[in-house]
Amino acid sequence: MKLTLSVIKADIGSIGGHIGPSRKLLDAVKALVAERGKVDLLDHTVGSTGDDIAILMTHRHGAGSPIVHGLAWEAFVAGAQVAKEQGLYGAGQDLLKDAFSGNVHGMGPAAAELEIEERPNEPFLLFAADKTDPGAFNFPLYLAFVDAMNTPGLILSPKISQGFRFVIMDVNHTTGDRVIELLAPEQIYDIAALLRDPERYVVESVWSRATGEQAVAVATSRLHNIAGRYTGKDDPVMLVRTQMNFPATGEVLAPFAAGHYVAGGMRGSHNMPLMPVALGTTTSYFDGPPLVTCAAFCVHEGRLTEPLDAFSHPFWDEVRHNVTRKAVDMRRQGFFGAAMLPMGELEYTGISEKLATLDKAFKIRPPVTRADAA
Ligand code: 13P
Ligand code: 13P
Ligand code: MG
Ligand code: MG
Repeated sequence: MKLTLSVIKADIGSIGGHIGPSRKLLDAVKALVAERGKVDLLDHTVGSTGDDIAILMTHRHGAGSPIVHGLAWEAFVAGAQVAKEQGLYGAGQDLLKDAFSGNVHGMGPAAAELEIEERPNEPFLLFAADKTDPGAFNFPLYLAFVDAMNTPGLILSPKISQGFRFVIMDVNHTTGDRVIELLAPEQIYDIAALLRDPERYVVESVWSRATGEQAVAVATSRLHNIAGRYTGKDDPVMLVRTQMNFPATGEVLAPFAAGHYVAGGMRGSHNMPLMPVALGTTTSYFDGPPLVTCAAFCVHEGRLTEPLDAFSHPFWDEVRHNVTRKAVDMRRQGFFGAAMLPMGELEYTGISEKLATLDKAFKIRPPVTRADAA
């Protein structure tokens, strides 16, 4: 029977603005998952990245299960209650609906799920990012699954060199899931043409063409499409299976050394570089910089190992210094040009109201004619 890995994450309140959850809040979430998980889950673990809490669960109920989604929802509701009692900022921020309706999709929390035939050795990575959106994973996924300069496995391994199938979602389409499937390597320029616009086109999943197995699941929800107003960034999670028929763990981690610019940071409205950080790291400079954690696991018959922290290695210290430099450089230009997101992506309506008022005050100046000049 297939094993399902489900990671469901939400921001349900944090200390000191959007920095990180309180110990008491985390404990409330953990306690509920542990209690309910005895019956409904094979295993689980709970962690935080910035002000977001991710619940990783293994089970046999399949993807989108009301039992598993309901359990996560209840855990977040319990945590939000503690957040309210403690006066945390943004208590219940990502719980956008009052009543649970069978699945967290469209309700605020983000979910990434993999239904797999467990391999004898099953290594996988859980990425969680704060102060950014799911398009942040376009760049590392393109390099890891398409580019032999990053992933020598694409040349060296016969299974991997058969390539991968990308499922890409148009996240601006709000009345249903608008997706396209493209094959690497034949269609890599088509894949590139879409992924260059990470606010609109987002990798949802990646599949091995050699075996048909799913390698990647990304949470693609867009909070402002659900709430109709800004309620926080979409802060995505992603599961990636590694080794054997998939890129090696190191090949999946390598692209993060670039510290690429992503949408996020202050008020969800800026371009800032993505910093790979240790598990549990909180947010700081300019409500950022956007952060990403990576917990590495193996799973056997549904039982998880302890997480290993993939970005706590000393190698990443230099990357973090570089990201700090890039972040400060970008902030030097304030709201000008590339520093702030384009109008359509700004998470606040204040500026559009201001521009609408100013627009009415514009006047067309009559052209100066030769007679006027004389
Ligand atoms: P407020 O406008 O409620 O202060 O929240 C915005 C915010 O904290 C984004 O940084
Ligand atoms: P979160 O989405 O992490 O709550 O951040 C909100 C924000 O706008 C911070 O500036
Ligand atoms: Mg928050
Ligand atoms: Mg957050």
